[in-house]
Amino acid sequence: MNTESAAAATAGAPGDRPARRPHVLVSAAMSVDGHIDDTSPERLLLSSPEDFDRVDELRAAGDAILVGAGTLRADDPRLEVRSAERRGARQGRGLPEHPLKVALVGHGGLDPELRLWQSGGDKLVLAPDAAAPALRTQLGARAEVLGTGPELDPARVLDALAERGVRRLMVEGGGAIQSLFLTAGLVDEIQLAVAPFFVGDAEAPRFAPPRAGVVFPQDTLRRMTLLGTEVLGGDIVVLRYAARRSDADVVTRDDIAWMRRAIELSHSCPRSETAYSVGAIVVAADGTELARGFSREGGDDKVHAEESALGKLDASDPRLRTATIYSTLEPCSVRASRPSPCAELIRAAGVGRVVLAWREPALFVADCQGVELLAAAGATVLELPELAAEARAVNAHLVS
Ligand SMILES: NC(=O)c1ccc[n+]([C@@H]2O[C@H](COP(=O)([O-])OP(=O)(O)OC[C@H]3O[C@@H](n4cnc5c(N)ncnc54)[C@H](OP(=O)(O)O)[C@@H]3O)[C@@H](O)[C@H]2O)c1
Ligand SMILES: [Zn+2]
Repeated sequence: MNTESAAAATAGAPGDRPARRPHVLVSAAMSVDGHIDDTSPERLLLSSPEDFDRVDELRAAGDAILVGAGTLRADDPRLEVRSAERRGARQGRGLPEHPLKVALVGHGGLDPELRLWQSGGDKLVLAPDAAAPALRTQLGARAEVLGTGPELDPARVLDALAERGVRRLMVEGGGAIQSLFLTAGLVDEIQLAVAPFFVGDAEAPRFAPPRAGVVFPQDTLRRMTLLGTEVLGGDIVVLRYAARRSDADVVTRDDIAWMRRAIELSHSCPRSETAYSVGAIVVAADGTELARGFSREGGDDKVHAEESALGKLDASDPRLRTATIYSTLEPCSVRASRPSPCAELIRAAGVGRVVLAWREPALFVADCQGVELLAAAGATVLELPELAAEARAVNAHLVS
C-alpha cells in the first residue's frame, strides 16, 4: 500500500552493512483493456482530477519517483508534487520540496531540453555503464548520471537509491520499467487506476507487458493481496495490491484494521499542548492482542503509548519475537523524560515488526530517527501513509 499505502520502510544503515532496499510502489493508470496510453502523439488522459490528487499525495509521501526513458521521451513529464501544501509539509519534515527524480535509460540517450531538467528537485539518471559517459556529456549539470553495471539491473538501481537514503520509491512507468521491476520480484505494492474505456489498439502501450524470455515470479505475483479499492471522480477505480516480497514486508488488511483500532485508542489520550496523542497495540503473530497503550495513560503525563503497551507485557513472553507493534506515530528516537526512547524499548522487547501511520513531524524533536533506528536494528518497519491524516487528526491543535 504502498497506499498509499503501505510501505516497508527501510533505512540507510550504518557502517558497511548495505542499506535496506526501498519499499517499491508501482503506480499506473490504465484503460479497461489494460493500456497505459494510446498510439497518438498526445498523452492519453486516464485519470480524473481526484485521482491526480491521489497520485500527488503518493509522490509527496515518497523519497523518489522513477520513470523510464520511454516515458520521458513520450510524455515529457515534470514529475512534481503539485500541491504547495504538500511541498510545505515535506519541508516541515526536513525533506526537500520534491522527491528525488530518477530516470532509467538504456542506450537511447535523453534530450537536454526535457521539462524534467527545468523542474524542481534533484535528478538522478541511471544507465548501463557503457551508456553513462555519453549521458554525462549530453546532460551536463542537469542531472547526476550513474552507471549500474553492464546492464540496467533493477536490484542495483534499488541498492544505489538505498545508499542515497531512499526508503520509499514510486515507480511511475512506463510499461518496460514496470515489467523490469515486477519480473525481478522487487515490487511491494501496486496501485492501479482503471479508467472506464477501451483503447482497443494492439499497438498501444500496455501495463506490464511480457518481457521476452522472462517470467513473472510466481511467488510474488501468483496471488496478490487486495488491500483496498476506491472510486475517485465518479468512475476511476483504484485497486491497491500488495505484491508479496516476504510475508513480513507486506501490509495486510489486518494491519490496516489494527491501525484503525490504534487510532481509535489515541482518542483516549488526555489532551496535551506539549505532547502528541498516540495509540499503540502489540499483536501476536496469530492475531491475538497482547497489550495496548496510549499517551499519558494512567495519569502519568510523561508516558508514551508504545512504552505503556510494552510495559504491560512480560519481557520473557516468547510471542514478542514474532509480534507486531502498531503505533499511530513513529516511535521516538530521543527522549528527555525517560532513559530510553520508544524505538529502543521496542528493540529491547524484541518486537521485530513495527507498523506506523504517521511520521513524527519536526515539532518537539527536530529530526525523529525512530524508523531509521528500528530498521538499522533489523526490524521490519512499515508505514501506512494513507492513515496518516487520521492519526494526525487528534493532534490537530498541535500541528497545522
Ligand atoms: N498510464 C500510466 O500510468 C503511464 C505511466 C507512465 C508511462 N506511460 C506510458 O508508457 C509509455 C512508455 O512506456 P515504455 O515501455 O515505452 O517506456 P519506459 O518503460 O518508460 O522506458 C523504457 C526505456 O527504459 C530503458 N530500459 C528499460 N528496460 C531496460 C533494460 N532491461 N535494460 C536497459 N534499458 C532498459 C530503455 O531505454 P533506451 O531506449 O534508452 O534503451 C527503454 O526504452 C508511454 O506511452 C507513456 O505515456 C503510462
Ligand atoms: Zn516514545
